Amino acid sequence: MNRNPIKNICCIGAGYVGGPTMAVIADKCPDLNIYVVDKNQSRIKAWNNNDLEKLPVYEPGLKEIIERVRFKNLFFTSDIIQNIRKADAIFISVNTPIKTSGLGAGKASNLRWVEACTKEIAEYAEGHTIVIEKSTLPVRTAEIIKKILNSKLNKNNIRKTFSILSNPEFLAEGTAIYDLEYPDRVLIGGEEEDAINQLKAIYEKWVDSKKILTTNLWSSELSKLVANAFLAQRISSINSISALCEKTGADINEVSRAVGFDSRIGAKFLKAGPGFGGSCFKKDILNLVYLSRYFGLKETADFWEQVISINKWQKERIYSIIVNKLFGNITNKKILILGFSFKANTNDIRESPAIEIAQYLLSEGANLFINDPKVDAEQIETSLNGIKGDLQKKDQNEYGNWSFEKDIYKAFRSADAAIIITEWEVYKTINWQKASNLMNSPAWIFDTRSIVNAEDVKSAGLEFWSVGNGNYI
Ligand code: NAD
Ligand code: UDX
Repeated sequence: MNRNPIKNICCIGAGYVGGPTMAVIADKCPDLNIYVVDKNQSRIKAWNNNDLEKLPVYEPGLKEIIERVRFKNLFFTSDIIQNIRKADAIFISVNTPIKTSGLGAGKASNLRWVEACTKEIAEYAEGHTIVIEKSTLPVRTAEIIKKILNSKLNKNNIRKTFSILSNPEFLAEGTAIYDLEYPDRVLIGGEEEDAINQLKAIYEKWVDSKKILTTNLWSSELSKLVANAFLAQRISSINSISALCEKTGADINEVSRAVGFDSRIGAKFLKAGPGFGGSCFKKDILNLVYLSRYFGLKETADFWEQVISINKWQKERIYSIIVNKLFGNITNKKILILGFSFKANTNDIRESPAIEIAQYLLSEGANLFINDPKVDAEQIETSLNGIKGDLQKKDQNEYGNWSFEKDIYKAFRSADAAIIITEWEVYKTINWQKASNLMNSPAWIFDTRSIVNAEDVKSAGLEFWSVGNGNYI
């Protein structure tokens, strides 16, 4: 049956995916009206802020699009019910973190937000609605969604029917707008041709139809988990080799380049670092591991679990090196953390390696000065379990404390060490002679991203370590 084309879209979840994704769809499809709804009112307020510097998500290129489409055909609102009611298509774009308690704690996805908003859709949708999974979900979640939606059919004599599609999002933070405008592929999984074609027609406004792949629901749900697992596996592979480089005199950047030149391997995602962060990789691999164990596939589960173990080990390895280089004692030493977001060009700190490294250094009694161009002190405080960023309150004997410092050079003053954790552009152009003049002596620079020139740092009289750099054994 061919239904009318989609005109009104509702997206539930105004987060790092819902916001940018809907902004790009609104920009490319001026004929559509898009309502992004969220139960978090302060987030909605921030999306509606006149000051575009205060949007809740920082992404290069995002504020320019928001300026073009907001209040025209893109609206951020907390009126969830009304917008579910009038939508022809609803994107579910809510968070799906790992469960922290109960069955599957630390392993399985917490689907309570998906369930809650599906129940609202079941209750309030009218006529025919295409429900689209945009969140990353365990395989066969569409079955649960279908059951919930079908439980309220024809309630209160309001006719309603649903089609369900899976349309996972492959954007990476920091390059979200580019990834959305020029995707490698768009994936649509579903059972009903008409619904698939309607969603396809939207993407075809700017994506070559050859790049729009259609599959069954379960392949689509699983492909998203597998794509993230493969990407993360490359990072753990190269990080495991970075340790070997440090022991043997090899240089991880040279090894990555030599290996990545093989077109069968490819050059991307071979940059050694402090371990992958972000809200997706660990969660999606844990999900894959959980599913594999559930279906009795121990070897599959063990294989993918190792990607996470290496990632944890890389962070532990790095902070042990830092403590050892600082003579095994960092109590009351001033250490500068350069970068707190999980990667450059985002204000997101979820699963950032900086959190675990900072927590460890604090537990050894260090005084941390934390700098980041886009992350604020409030976010840092939450991630450090509410330890107030107040060095006056430092426990003299045991636990360290921290302070947020916007001015990098001020932060270098009397520091014993600086650790580059995020590869922000601004850290690539630090004047090391100026930094050295301000720091204590001896002072160390630890470059966990391998972004600065070793000779510049060393010739400024600073001690230097960088990940996977075996030149100094
Ligand atoms: P997020 O936490 O930034 O945003 C989710 C939003 O959903 C929150 O603002 C929350 O308030 C809202 N929400 C939750 N339940 C709701 C409900 N019942 N009604 C209304 N609003 C509700 O999460 P995110 O980073 O945007 O990720 C969303 C999904 O997309 C996840 O499944 C994630 O795995 C997936 N994903 C994320 C990325 C990424 O880079 N962040 C990339 C691809 C896929
Ligand atoms: C990832 C996927 O790339 C994206 O397709 C998916 O939709 C969501 O998850 P994201 O987590 O936003 O995106 O960023 P990504 O660029 O993948 O980086 C993840 C982590 O890996 C970051 O901490 C990054 O610094 C690290 N990384 C990435 C490396 O350490 N080395 C690399 O070579 C690449």
